Amino acid sequence: MAPLLSVEGLCVEFPSRSGPVRACAGMGFTIGRGEVVGLVGESGSGKSVASLSILRLTPPRGRVTGGSIVFEGRNLFAIPRRDILKIRGRRIGFVSQTPRASLNPALRIRDQIAAVLRACDPNFRRADARNRISAMLAPLGFSDPDRVAASFPHQLSGGMCQRVAIALALAGDPSLLIADEPTTALDVAVQAGILALLRRLKRERGLSILLVTHDLSVVRA
Ligand SMILES: Nc1ncnc2c1ncn2[C@@H]1O[C@H](COP(=O)(O)OP(=O)(O)OP(=O)(O)O)[C@@H](O)[C@H]1O
Ligand SMILES: [Mg+2]
Repeated sequence: MAPLLSVEGLCVEFPSRSGPVRACAGMGFTIGRGEVVGLVGESGSGKSVASLSILRLTPPRGRVTGGSIVFEGRNLFAIPRRDILKIRGRRIGFVSQTPRASLNPALRIRDQIAAVLRACDPNFRRADARNRISAMLAPLGFSDPDRVAASFPHQLSGGMCQRVAIALALAGDPSLLIADEPTTALDVAVQAGILALLRRLKRERGLSILLVTHDLSVVRA
């Protein structure tokens, strides 16, 4: 069976005064269905740039100069922009390395999750939203999920924002989750809870996960 995601020879460059800087130089890996793959490397080795490039979100001024990314049989570098918008969130969920910056500061958490549900789920019903959102936040280790749902991002700690970002990434029921350092801002107990949740999602939903980290103990867990 063909892998869910196959990255081959990915090259990404940034311009600089002394010529192009290579952030990724021929990166390659595959992820099968229901498989967890760790992308491990030292700080600055291009892990985040590669993860963003999979979603065609290479940082400004960065340029993909080579390679291919095939996801569910389609080359993501060759498809139209409107098709990649349908893949982001619905087929591939993404947890950014800077979760607070990825949340909308002007909206309550509940409204941000509801927006994803509304966009991704054709059977979305406003009346169910509140219960669904609480059920999505509960397994992320919050003592009071309803209070989190009613909060704005600035009312939450960094670790809470990180867990909310994971809930948002899973809200569209993707087949692949790209999690960029998903446990870095968390204390050890919460970190273990998140890793257990990811393992359960892999087992129960057959979720594939690209786990980006510089911490080998996270990959081992
Ligand atoms: N917007 C940008 N402009 C210029 N260079 C950039 C930009 N973003 C990343 N880079 C460069 O690309 C390289 C890879 O960065 P990246 O953020 O992918 O590293 P990383 O492996 O995720 O590191 P970390 O473990 O610290 O998150 C770095 O050398 C960085 O300087
Ligand atoms: Mg990074």
